Amino acid sequence: MAAQVNENNESESLDLSVNEEILQSYKGPVPRHVAIIMDGNGRWAKSRGMKRIRGHHEGAHAVRRVVESCRYFGVEVLTLYAFSAQNWSRPRDEVSGLMTLFDIYIRRERKRLIKNQVGLKVIGDRDKLSPKLQRSIAALEEATSQDPKMSLQVAVSYGGREEILRASRELARAVSEGKLDPDSISEEHFEQFLYTAGCPDPDLMIRTSGEVRISNFLLWQLAYSEIYVTDVLWPDFDEAQLVAAFESFGSRERRFGLTGDQLEDEDDSNDSD
Ligand code: FPP
Repeated sequence: MAAQVNENNESESLDLSVNEEILQSYKGPVPRHVAIIMDGNGRWAKSRGMKRIRGHHEGAHAVRRVVESCRYFGVEVLTLYAFSAQNWSRPRDEVSGLMTLFDIYIRRERKRLIKNQVGLKVIGDRDKLSPKLQRSIAALEEATSQDPKMSLQVAVSYGGREEILRASRELARAVSEGKLDPDSISEEHFEQFLYTAGCPDPDLMIRTSGEVRISNFLLWQLAYSEIYVTDVLWPDFDEAQLVAAFESFGSRERRFGLTGDQLEDEDDSNDSD
């Protein structure tokens, strides 16, 4: 279930702006896929008498820290919830400010993502984005698609229910065209039609700002993920917070519906293989 911590000290050839001393303190298992609900930007700004958008801009700095820390650890997939299908109903200036921020992020991080071999993929209903932003996203996806060592999935205009409905429509279409027998539909079939097709399910889902909700994020994929909630607001989320989340993950027994005894038996039989 866990990827290995970067054994080759590969970080030396990368350009990771992270606090290595803190990251090195973690010796436990590294989740293959980390998913994060980045919450609390608005409260971070409000508590400082600033406009909400300032909190989002500060949140973008935390995004770089976490992307590069996950890359350092050898995480295979990092999925960040940046803008939900429901966030379109926020005040117009906040929505347009966030769209501008995504555009800034794409330009500002381009070189670092390429250098660090991080492949960007935007998941969600991108038809709702401006044609200019859609083009910038497609260009960066293309530029970072060569042999990425980590996949960065940014969920924009994304909703878990919307994703499941979209997949259901595709399956219904295949059935009505006679290409698929309804009785043969399996989880694997269904997953092929999700935005995350081909990607392992999240091992660890982190939510900041203390809210204990899933908020329409990766509803199908989070079925067996370990959930970690911290009171820290997203702009303050740093290497120490990530290590705390990994420490918590490392201490969990993941059962996937089995009993603890069954898991021990499985371990014993693997040891004797
Ligand atoms: C939720 O906090 C956060 C968002 C809706 C936006 C997330 C965006 C970023 C972190 C910035 C940029 C991201 C990328 C990928 C460049 P909230 O505003 O709901 O906070 P609140 O609950 O305190 O109001």
